[in-house]
Amino acid sequence: MLSPALIATAPALTPKARAPSFSQREFRASLAMFATGVTIVTARTPSGELVGLTANSFNSVSLTPPLVLWSLSQAASSMAALSKGSHYAINILAADQKALAERFASKHDDRWQGVAFTEGVAGAPLLSGAAASFECFNRSRYEEGDHVIFVGEVERCCHREGAAPLLFHGGKFYTEHPL
Ligand SMILES: Cc1cc2nc3c(=O)[nH]c(=O)nc-3n(C[C@H](O)[C@H](O)[C@H](O)COP(=O)(O)O)c2cc1C
Repeated sequence: MLSPALIATAPALTPKARAPSFSQREFRASLAMFATGVTIVTARTPSGELVGLTANSFNSVSLTPPLVLWSLSQAASSMAALSKGSHYAINILAADQKALAERFASKHDDRWQGVAFTEGVAGAPLLSGAAASFECFNRSRYEEGDHVIFVGEVERCCHREGAAPLLFHGGKFYTEHPL
């Protein structure tokens, strides 16, 4: 139990966060210290159009049920297709797929030109050569700030044993280097 002296000096609980004390540049640079893998999130719309974008906001959420998350910018042109669709796939890229990561992160006439894939159980494209893939039911979405957090319920997943994953950190791509 807190002593009366401690209670007296404890700061009052504030219901709102303090305004940020840092620049956006500092925030970005600090976030960039978090090394991640790289994914391409893919879907096929009901009219048959292929959708895909590079995303490193992927993370695991729950084992039972199997849940993963990733977040999408409100400004993304794929927002309508991905938020309304029932399924998407998350393709974890292998180290030799850097060019694909760059292509699916930039404006390109046709991101899918020459890209090899197979169709998942619910129609989402599974990129050939990916280190792993998760076929997800589009379970829930949470609007937060300038992004929407997507929680996917994994219906199927597979990986390529021994594949070297593509890594991203500080604006550059890497591959693993055991310590
Ligand atoms: C390594 C890397 C990771 C990225 N991660 C995300 C992400 O998690 N969410 C996001 O919305 N955009 C992310 N982007 C940016 C998108 O890939 C990029 O804005 C893309 O053009 C969006 O496509 P769209 O507008 O067709 O949806 C990332 C870019 C790179 C290079």
